[in-house]
Amino acid sequence: MDKIKILVADDIEETRAVIKKMLSLEDDQFEVVGEADNGQDVLNLIPKLRPDIVLMDINMPILNGLEATEKITNDYPSVIVIIMSVQAENEYLKRAMFHGAKEYIIKPFNYASLTETIKITYEKYKERQMKLAKGEMRNKEGKVMTFFSSKGGVGKSILALNTAVILSKEEKKKILLVDMDLQFGDLSMLVNKYNHKTILDAVDERQLDSYESIKPYLYKYNEKLDMLFAPGKPESAEYITKDSTQKIIELLKKEYDVIVVDTGVNFNDNTLYILDESEKIFLVSTMEIVSLKNTKLGMRIMQSLGYDKNKVKLVINRYTTNYGINRKDVEDVFKDGIFAMIPEEEKTVNISVNKGLPFCEGDKYNKQKIGKALEIMCKDLAN
Ligand SMILES: Nc1ncnc2c1ncn2[C@@H]1O[C@H](COP(=O)(O)OP(=O)(O)O)[C@@H](O)[C@H]1O
Ligand SMILES: [Mg+2]
Repeated sequence: MDKIKILVADDIEETRAVIKKMLSLEDDQFEVVGEADNGQDVLNLIPKLRPDIVLMDINMPILNGLEATEKITNDYPSVIVIIMSVQAENEYLKRAMFHGAKEYIIKPFNYASLTETIKITYEKYKERQMKLAKGEMRNKEGKVMTFFSSKGGVGKSILALNTAVILSKEEKKKILLVDMDLQFGDLSMLVNKYNHKTILDAVDERQLDSYESIKPYLYKYNEKLDMLFAPGKPESAEYITKDSTQKIIELLKKEYDVIVVDTGVNFNDNTLYILDESEKIFLVSTMEIVSLKNTKLGMRIMQSLGYDKNKVKLVINRYTTNYGINRKDVEDVFKDGIFAMIPEEEKTVNISVNKGLPFCEGDKYNKQKIGKALEIMCKDLAN
């Protein structure tokens, strides 16, 4: 096994010496490749030393651990940062995690907690970090497109469903719609299929080793569009592990041209996996100020995950000027631009929800403003 390469950053020499000593007790597992006494040095050393992990103190001169963490997340997303903080630095700690640190350890720590924290964090993130390092985040197979927001009720499910329906009209394309809102997914309701099998049945009942083994759990919406629903009960979500999700998605990617994913607002391992897998993420917001604020936060989370701007697309749903906020105001907040504006059309949407019939069904869907806007969004995707 390769040793885990570690860079130790702390402005107190004695602290660095103690850490090095602790790590040297397991020198078959760890290799301290370098040390730094300020954040700027950390940034200078990373390209030379290529550490897997940076053990980062918060209070350091020139560039502090917080700023250095933010820069590492942006410039070297494959490097895992573990923050070393004293109890009193709680507020900084939160900010460091927000800026992309993967784990933290409270000082003073002992040998066991240090080595355990490093091993566990490395195990948890190494696969993902390796992919990032190789720039392999893009899929070679079916493309995954995910609708995400950090606030519920903004229209993710409605948009995901109707996008999938529009994409399935394209010639020769096979589309899969997956409900990854594992707790409160309602896609089955939106197409009037209440008691259909779900991802939970798939995980429960069978060996998931081929497409054939998952097929019985898919709902065939039409010739070109299949769906995989979320469990009917919120408490079932915990039985669907990231590993089973990964297995399922990997098998399905080989069978479909596009996989459209609806997510919940729950930010967990499953969500993170899907976001990583996605070629495009539609960050959905409404015009309301709370939703816009959450979306701004969502953008920063995407950034701290190391996603580039091309991957994350802002979609404003329920667009109307009635709230006293217009397109220009929203554009001022999101400098990278708005990918699509989907108008508010209560009647069309409500009838569709109540009937369990997507409003983009049929061939006249683009006669309505909302259908037209989604059609344009799908065309922009192809370009
Ligand atoms: N463009 C729209 N125009 C009017 N109402 C909408 C629109 N998009 C969503 N809605 C309303 O918002 C509700 C929540 O949408 P949903 O897709 O379930 O949100 P989420 O999945 O983000 O929680 C829908 O039931 C519908 O009433
Ligand atoms: Mg939803």
